[in-house]
Amino acid sequence: MNLNNTTTAQTEKHSFSTYAFLRLDGNADFQKVYKDLYFQDCVQYCDAVREEYDIVLLLNACMEKDIQNFVDGKLKTMDEITEIDYMPIRIHEGVHSPSKEEKEVLRQSSVSAYVFLEIEKEKLDRICSQLYLMDGVVSCDVTSGRYGMVLLVNGTDFPCLDELIQDKIWQIDGVIRARKVNIIEMFEMGMESPDERIGKINYELWKYDKKPGQLIPLLQKAQEDAGYVSEKAIRYISGVTRIPESQIYGVVTFYKQFRLKPVGEYLIRLCDGTACHVNNSKMLKDIIEDELQFEGGDTSDDGLFTLELVACLGCCSLAPVITINDQTYGRLTPLKLRKILKQYKPKGKQK
Ligand code: FES
Repeated sequence: MNLNNTTTAQTEKHSFSTYAFLRLDGNADFQKVYKDLYFQDCVQYCDAVREEYDIVLLLNACMEKDIQNFVDGKLKTMDEITEIDYMPIRIHEGVHSPSKEEKEVLRQSSVSAYVFLEIEKEKLDRICSQLYLMDGVVSCDVTSGRYGMVLLVNGTDFPCLDELIQDKIWQIDGVIRARKVNIIEMFEMGMESPDERIGKINYELWKYDKKPGQLIPLLQKAQEDAGYVSEKAIRYISGVTRIPESQIYGVVTFYKQFRLKPVGEYLIRLCDGTACHVNNSKMLKDIIEDELQFEGGDTSDDGLFTLELVACLGCCSLAPVITINDQTYGRLTPLKLRKILKQYKPKGKQK
């Protein structure tokens, strides 16, 4: 599609804006393409999305020809881009798009999505006025492409965005159809969310293509980042992949490798491999649980210590062995172990 065939309309004084929705080749390096586009001059927003498209760009320039030059000289020359859809933006009074900075602030500790609306054009004004006042709607642009409007919505999680669409946007008289495209935050671009615990799995989520067996690596990634699979991470993965939360919980609780609670400040790895087992590692476990007050579960009541049983720590000649964070302790006796644990306990609890 050539922009000359459409009208890229004026959206703000002396500027022209259009959305460009990109599909990438499945074998392309998504991250490389994303980084490349993010820093281009006329790219106001660059969002990694899932489902119908892979990247959404909001292009903005003083002159329409600058956008056209970017499209011809950049987008159309990139082999990784297999499809581009444009939706030029028309201004609508009372509706504004946030700046890049405003948008980043809005996204902190929340999730965002684009919503494409098919509308009855004669009801545009009324639809806009209702959307403008609606909580969760960050911006709404009137476009002249395939859809009449493109909204940016924001909420605490993806299910809450589904509710917003279902219970509110759909209910507006004149809205014919609404399609949502979830935005995946790419934190490595310096747009880190305060909740980094879900941050690092985003690239995997972006590439998730519903093939069987992709859920476990995603959960491993979430656990790698945070030390456990948080409730928020589960909701987020579910929102993006559309795998029901109950199914994800089923997997997390089935596999022993996953934790649903945060790891304590001190991670104690107790070896229960053959050499340690025959040297009474079971007794060490009882001592740890007693000394540090574990009441069921693998983390002490004060949340300071987490105990993990491992098959072998690779130093069998020192059996029985534990590690506390990076420190290894071998040839343990009950007395020696109690002394070591006391060093890690907070002052006042060392007796
Ligand atoms: S069996 Fe315990 S360190 Fe190898």
